[in-house]
Amino acid sequence: MTDLTNTDAKDNAMIVDSMTPDAPDHNPEATEATDDAGIQKIYLKDYTPPSYSVEKVELDIKLFEDHATVDSVLTMKRQHPGDLVLLGQNMDLTAISINDKALKDGEYQLDEGQLTVSDAPDDAVVKISVRHEPQKNTELEGLYIAGEGDDVMFVTQCEPEGFRKITYYPDRPDVLSVFTTRLEAGKKFPTLLANGDLIESGEVEGDSNRHYAIWHDVSKKPSYLFACVFADLAVLEDSYTTIEGRDVKLQIYAKAYDIDKCHVAMQALKDSMHWDEENYGRAYDLDRYMIVAVSQFNMGAMENKGLNIFNTSCVLSSPETTTDARSFSVKSIIAHEYFHNWTGNRVTCRDWFQLCLKEGLTVYRDQSFSADHQSPAVQRIDDVSMLRAYQFTEDAGPLSHPPRPSSFVEINNFYTTTVYEKGAEVVRMLANTLGDEYRQGTDTYFDRYDGQAVTVEDWLSALSAEGKSVEHFIDWYTQPGTPEVSGHQSFELGKDNVGKLTVTLSQKTRQVEGYEAPKPLPIPVAAALFDRTSGELIEERLLMLEQESQDFVFDQVTTVVGIEPIVSVLRDFSAPVQMKYQYSEADLAFLLAHETNGFNQWQSAQALVNKILLQNNEPEVYLQAVKKAFLSLVQDDAMLAARILDIPAERELASAVNSDYQPSVMKQKRDLLKNNLAQFMAEDWQQVYSQLPIESYEDTPQARGKRALRNVVLDMALTAGIEEAHDWAYEQYQKASCMTERLGALSAMVNHEHPQKQAVLADFYERFNKEALVMDLWFSVQAGDENASVADIAALIERKDFDWGTPNRIRAVVGSFAAQPTKLWSKEGLETYIAVVQKLDETNPVLASRLLQTLSRWYTLAEPVRAEAKQQLQQLRRQVKSKNVTESLHTILKAG
Ligand code: ARG
Ligand code: ZN
Repeated sequence: MTDLTNTDAKDNAMIVDSMTPDAPDHNPEATEATDDAGIQKIYLKDYTPPSYSVEKVELDIKLFEDHATVDSVLTMKRQHPGDLVLLGQNMDLTAISINDKALKDGEYQLDEGQLTVSDAPDDAVVKISVRHEPQKNTELEGLYIAGEGDDVMFVTQCEPEGFRKITYYPDRPDVLSVFTTRLEAGKKFPTLLANGDLIESGEVEGDSNRHYAIWHDVSKKPSYLFACVFADLAVLEDSYTTIEGRDVKLQIYAKAYDIDKCHVAMQALKDSMHWDEENYGRAYDLDRYMIVAVSQFNMGAMENKGLNIFNTSCVLSSPETTTDARSFSVKSIIAHEYFHNWTGNRVTCRDWFQLCLKEGLTVYRDQSFSADHQSPAVQRIDDVSMLRAYQFTEDAGPLSHPPRPSSFVEINNFYTTTVYEKGAEVVRMLANTLGDEYRQGTDTYFDRYDGQAVTVEDWLSALSAEGKSVEHFIDWYTQPGTPEVSGHQSFELGKDNVGKLTVTLSQKTRQVEGYEAPKPLPIPVAAALFDRTSGELIEERLLMLEQESQDFVFDQVTTVVGIEPIVSVLRDFSAPVQMKYQYSEADLAFLLAHETNGFNQWQSAQALVNKILLQNNEPEVYLQAVKKAFLSLVQDDAMLAARILDIPAERELASAVNSDYQPSVMKQKRDLLKNNLAQFMAEDWQQVYSQLPIESYEDTPQARGKRALRNVVLDMALTAGIEEAHDWAYEQYQKASCMTERLGALSAMVNHEHPQKQAVLADFYERFNKEALVMDLWFSVQAGDENASVADIAALIERKDFDWGTPNRIRAVVGSFAAQPTKLWSKEGLETYIAVVQKLDETNPVLASRLLQTLSRWYTLAEPVRAEAKQQLQQLRRQVKSKNVTESLHTILKAG
């Protein structure tokens, strides 16, 4: 495979000069740069529209034993002055002609992943032939090989810039075209799929061992939404009639042995189609909707037009093999990719800086869908926990960037929790601010921009109703950092127990290096007043904080006996901010007991925990309050009751510490509090567990809630040292009706050193070693074992079935590892972790870079780990080759 672009391999220091015109304080090592012709930083401000459009494109992709050829015909038309530019990487150009005239050597220029024709005619039919080797493509981008032996298949991942690894093309999201795709391969790949509708198929003339299929997609799309598949798959079929009367054939393709695990996804797909019609007035627009499951995939899934490609972990689900949590996320990812058909595909992004336009909006939509399928409070709790543990951490360190960045080196590095999750929070604020007018706004957005490639500004202008502009929310998209909101209240009592309550709120966002001084943002703070004596809700109001500091007055507040009411702020986490409201422990205990908003009940418990773990408060108030709340919730909302017991993960706690972080001290405190709680409620565990017998499996919110609660209670009972709990665990493992119960028992037994620990691990392996996704759980439980050493984790990585080609397996181990700061942040821990990054840098840079980003807050560690981390990261810098890892490493090392 000829590599036309990766001249960056030799010296990654070259990146520095082109990346940091504005950062004079980078490390001395970094200034060794001698060659800045390498990787370029790309700026949003430099955007220019394409000089040519592509009216239509015909592709002919032929797959052979050890290579593939792609012949394409692009019908191009000049739109603006400028060269005809095609992008391409990792392939050999074998022929090129324009309007049937072959181009000779000087008539085009081929360099750095770009093919340029300077004097092309205004109407140009460009024919191109290329050759490459998908069999050797380990990057899981472009056309790549997945699986081995009988399971081998070839699939594509084009977003964001993978199409240029398939053929030369104006591979940018603002070039939309109509695709016709012919696929040809040996008959050992009976499944030949591409976007749109199948219009022809048959045997290749003169070669009875080969066949072909021709697909045509009537919708205009950018190349990142192209997909094709060569495989041998079974299919689960169903149908859906849209609100517009279109009969859509629904197909989920998977390996024959997995096909019975596709029913959950199929139902979720139909539910999503219906949900989008009901909630956004959007119907599906093609006659076919296909989903293909593949074991080797870098992300969760991809929304290619009419042909989604899914990581098996995000589409397969069965009670015996899949936990409730996983199964629920299968449904939400099915919804996510389906919703992209309108938010992403029909209305797409003008350039990759606008990524959050489609991702933030689509995540918000899938979160709303999920909130309709379980306790909305639990949905919000889970989304916010994620945001705090990952996005707040990202935003607190050197990788901090706004949802819409203004520059990048490698766009793959920006599929971040800031773009996705913070992007979704911004859309949520817009929706809540607009209220009923939000739907009118999204209707306008779809009407106005259908078939176009647009920007965040276009989105805000469509949403802005007459007299109610939300255009000033643009600052949320362009300004990095998590705002801190502080607040307090004061009360003046008048006649007849009626008074005036003033809530003062102020905001502050940290200055992130390389960005302008932060501006105050529009921050919607959902608030409710409660009467302290009766516990009743007096009034609800949305406080819109727009200045640095503002007073909000509640006049004429009627109280029962004239005692100052209490304000509950940021209900349902109405803005992605760090809220520092002046609450006493008594206030928080009151809210935990009386808030009608389940999210804020949970939030009050979290705030009490933080006072203990981060400010050294005594735990008494928390223990009493959480016990009371737990017992009052346990019957009505078992899932919420389980969440009320949450103690933030070590990683989340760490994001609040900006220097001298000592993981073992933090872990000790956390363990101590958990022990305290377990002891304090020892009798409750006995009682609650006995009321939760194993029942036959049902997939309802109630049944899932009970299972979640049972697992939490089991873990607490073992933490409390309750002797019988050993029997409960073993029995739950043996009698489990589903994976949630079995895995809950298994991990409890593993973490609490149950006498049968090794026996159940062996049994689990015996039962499930043919199921790759279940084996991921087996790896993950052991890598996350409280009692495992770094050497034990390293031994898992050494195993033969630790498959370096399958991101799911790598994440199963490395993810559980990284969730344990005491192990990660040690000399051996860092060596083990960094060795994984270094190895993947060569084979799968997208994954390598994402794993590396977990180390971004190295500089907050106390010595000697801080120095150790710095030294190891600097050493890694001398080894790495990929643009992805080089950019991340460069940014990470700027801190400290
Ligand atoms: N658009 C996909 C989704 O969020 C993500 C695919 C990104 N792939 C990548 N290699 N960065 O649904
Ligand atoms: Zn998405």
